[in-house]
Amino acid sequence: MDKKVTVVGAGNVGATAAQRLAEKELCDVVLIDIAEGLPQGKSLDLMQAATIERHDAKLTGSNRYEESKNSDVVIITAGIPRKPGMSRDDLIGTNAAIVKGVTKEIARLSPNATLIIVSNPLDAMCHVAYEASGFPKNKVIGMAGVLDSARFRAFIAMELNVSVENTHAFVLGGHGDTMVPLPRYSTVAGIPITELMSKERIDAIVQRTANGGAEIVKLLKTGSAYYAPSSAAVEMAEAILKDKKKILPCAAYLQGEYGINDLFIGVPVKLGKDGVEEVIEISLTDDEKKALMKSADAVKELTEVLKKLK
Ligand code: LAC
Repeated sequence: MDKKVTVVGAGNVGATAAQRLAEKELCDVVLIDIAEGLPQGKSLDLMQAATIERHDAKLTGSNRYEESKNSDVVIITAGIPRKPGMSRDDLIGTNAAIVKGVTKEIARLSPNATLIIVSNPLDAMCHVAYEASGFPKNKVIGMAGVLDSARFRAFIAMELNVSVENTHAFVLGGHGDTMVPLPRYSTVAGIPITELMSKERIDAIVQRTANGGAEIVKLLKTGSAYYAPSSAAVEMAEAILKDKKKILPCAAYLQGEYGINDLFIGVPVKLGKDGVEEVIEISLTDDEKKALMKSADAVKELTEVLKKLK
């Protein structure tokens, strides 16, 4: 393949992302992890599956960053997942150190890559990667809005018994309890869901979406969700690799957009070969604005915690 993507972290999210990238024949994939044998074993397994899945993407597993050299896109999933009862924010100390170390190595070897950050707490980890890489702001992007919107869409489709393909949804803000699902901008075949469902049902779905990650953590008991998170990261990678100019909600570094400064937070962006090519500013009602600001404050608090960790 003429494109190369490195996935850091061969856990469930990383390995499933590697599988999806390869099976869509988007690129060759390098899977990196500190655990000896783990990325090598999973890559070899996926290479053997390739004969049946019929793709020619090459997968390489390694414990060394050198293999990642000159990647076009790097998906960073490294870090620990939360346990039942934990919030994403509880992971900040451990994962900040991991993401910082990983990003420095990646930036050294792939100075032109676009980084897709998946580690939690997501918005704060984007800050860590942005600072550690020294990359321009358009090249550091957080995966959260695509996942949260996918969950919202799944619940809309279940509720109305319609094809998921007919659904569209927007979830903005931080990837946490303060995320901001936007029913006015969420549609089924172009029809806003506010026309199709009662306020009570929408509120219930919004609540379930905001709690979507925790619901799965509670069910799995060990580890967190990975099928939808890996799908979301790969949708973003595909938009970048194919220069699709796709509008997706992603965590992007804002400098004045939405009245927010120097903060990573989920907003609609245009993704293409240059990463975040544009931040799309949609009009928000007063209540929606207030909810976004509250979410921004929560992210800001975490960035203050990061400063103290240094
Ligand atoms: C979730 C984790 C990955 O939302 O943040 O499932």
